[in-house]
Amino acid sequence: MLKSIKKIGVMTSGGDSPGMNAAIRSVARTCAFYNIECIGIYRGYEGMIEGDFKDLTARSVKGIINKGGTILKSARSKLFRTEEGRKKAYDKLKEKDIDSLVVIGGDGTFTGALIFNKEYDLPIMGIPGTIDNDIFGTSHTLGYDTALNTVVDAIDKIRDTASSHNRLFFIEVMGRDVGHIALNAGIGAGAEEILIPEEDLGLERLLESLRRSKKSGKSSSIVVVAEGDKIGKNVFELKDYVEENMTEYEVRVSVLGHMQRGGTPSCFDRVLASRMGVKAVESLIKGENNYMVGLLNDKITLTPLNKAVKGKVKINKELIRVSDIMTI
Ligand code: F6P
Repeated sequence: MLKSIKKIGVMTSGGDSPGMNAAIRSVARTCAFYNIECIGIYRGYEGMIEGDFKDLTARSVKGIINKGGTILKSARSKLFRTEEGRKKAYDKLKEKDIDSLVVIGGDGTFTGALIFNKEYDLPIMGIPGTIDNDIFGTSHTLGYDTALNTVVDAIDKIRDTASSHNRLFFIEVMGRDVGHIALNAGIGAGAEEILIPEEDLGLERLLESLRRSKKSGKSSSIVVVAEGDKIGKNVFELKDYVEENMTEYEVRVSVLGHMQRGGTPSCFDRVLASRMGVKAVESLIKGENNYMVGLLNDKITLTPLNKAVKGKVKINKELIRVSDIMTI
């Protein structure tokens, strides 16, 4: 028999991303729409263990759709990785009569949710929120589109100064394991080379490509480097390497860092968050459990949480080819 859902807890966990607030708002308002109580859990699993909860109503989530970050705060909890921590979290949820969860986050968040669900049989829905876009089962994670726009905007600005001084810039962008941000923002901002974790371009090919750029009359160049790229040197070491091997280049480095995670969410991320929140709550009401809500071919879909965690996200190889052709 279907257990009826009466009180949904919602939380954000792991690295924050623009659109998380819009998702919290959507979950709270969909709950209100179906006369279900909604409880915000602060600081992810850490706040769950401490019972740091706050009632969320349709009105208490007003004015947040356009805000970056997360009003519920975020954390990475070491304690939740222990049985004792998870037991405490479960007790706190029971005390408050929370009977199901919507967890907004990335890989780590979903891994915690899977273990928790196995131990305590509490229905859970995941919403993918990370700028890295590295979750299987969705073409877009919340915050990815906004981050792309932020990165393109930053590179456009760096190009102004690069071309004024005839300089080569190495620009490091986020992406520990995947190169989605680097590849897409790199093409969008017209980068001469893009270094990503999925492909080892090789140092010699990089030099070759920079030589070609110079020869073809380019006075300045932008190389976008994902933080987890496989070339074996970080951006500062790359600068030294190129300066040693190509004296014709004056090189500078810019690490964009955490500014990529902040800012007003794009319209795309706001709409996606709203759709995902509705689907997460409606799925719990229907008795679904242990799924991640995703976007595939513009349809909101459900992927089993364990597949979302284990599945491999692939880079679009066509983009590598497009980038190669564009940098002739
Ligand atoms: O949000 C994802 C991500 O931005 C990664 O690309 C990056 O390596 C990591 O988070 C850094 O996060 P933090 O500084 O919070 O540990």
